[in-house]
Amino acid sequence: MDDLHSLKKAFLDDIAAVSDLDGLQQIKSRYSGKKGLLTEKLKALSSIPADERRNYGKLVNELKDFIEGTVKEKELAFREIEKERRLLTEKIDITLPGKPFFFGRKHPIYQILAEIKDIFVSMGFGIEEGPEVELDYYNFEALNLPKDHPARDMQDTFYVSDDVVLRTHTSPVQVRVMEKKSPPLKIIAPGKVYRCDSDVSHTAMFHQVEGLMVDTDVSFSDLKGVLELFVHSFFGKDTPVRFRPSYFPFTEPSAEVDIGCIFCSGKGCRICKTTGWLEVMGCGMVNPRVFEMSGYRPEEYTGFAFGMGVERMTMLKYSIDDIRLFYENDLRFLKQF
Ligand code: DAH
Repeated sequence: MDDLHSLKKAFLDDIAAVSDLDGLQQIKSRYSGKKGLLTEKLKALSSIPADERRNYGKLVNELKDFIEGTVKEKELAFREIEKERRLLTEKIDITLPGKPFFFGRKHPIYQILAEIKDIFVSMGFGIEEGPEVELDYYNFEALNLPKDHPARDMQDTFYVSDDVVLRTHTSPVQVRVMEKKSPPLKIIAPGKVYRCDSDVSHTAMFHQVEGLMVDTDVSFSDLKGVLELFVHSFFGKDTPVRFRPSYFPFTEPSAEVDIGCIFCSGKGCRICKTTGWLEVMGCGMVNPRVFEMSGYRPEEYTGFAFGMGVERMTMLKYSIDDIRLFYENDLRFLKQF
């Protein structure tokens, strides 16, 4: 009988030390497995003298029930602990914020372009487009810039062939529209233009908005009125505007439009090169030579034209000092607009 006592004691020690289901499985096979310690005792029953067998057999069976019952209980307890652990670790915290969902939006250049278009459309201008791969004829020649004209050097041109270029400005749209439509004309032509140039204020591709108004009695004061109204709508009604004499082959007289520096309020700073003024666009009265080449009679019609850079307008409006930011696709920059 002592052997049964020590077997029970050994079992109780083992059970007390076990800490998981794997360990429990090992105990189970150590005692109740095919060659388990308890199984051996059961097998040995037949070799016990008959008078002792009854009593001994009863005790072995009690021990068997005890061991199997204890193992079962322990197993249930371990399964419960495991379930608790999983419930805790796999818990979904419904108070956590959801995953953010980002909406796309218009690129800042196209937001400003839409604003510029709106202002001119509200003044009765229509919108026209022209090709970005343009004939040398429309980009230069018909705008009074013959092949050897020194002003061609002002624009670093991408040549596709001798006669074909990537348009360096939106001015060729003027000519294309005049060839197709007769006056009166009041249009703007927005679009991409290309120049072989790159630094903090130049990219090889940028956007311009061209403007053209032609009728029998369009004067320089009409030009001033339209552009002043535009500047005041775009930059604010108190923005100072001035027209400074300049030169463009396609206009005569020509002017540059300046606004009072919005960075220093005209006091003079690094950005306005201490002049207190910022250049925002070129303009002038359409050169009679351009009318002639487009098939309009200069004796009958007068008109004005202007051209501005959309990137430049956006940089001035939002105080952006590097044009390349527009085209690096850095969301931290783009999301601000
Ligand atoms: N095409 C000129 C440029 O890209 C801008 C310009 C100046 C357009 C005067 C005009 C104008 O229509 O009259 O620099």
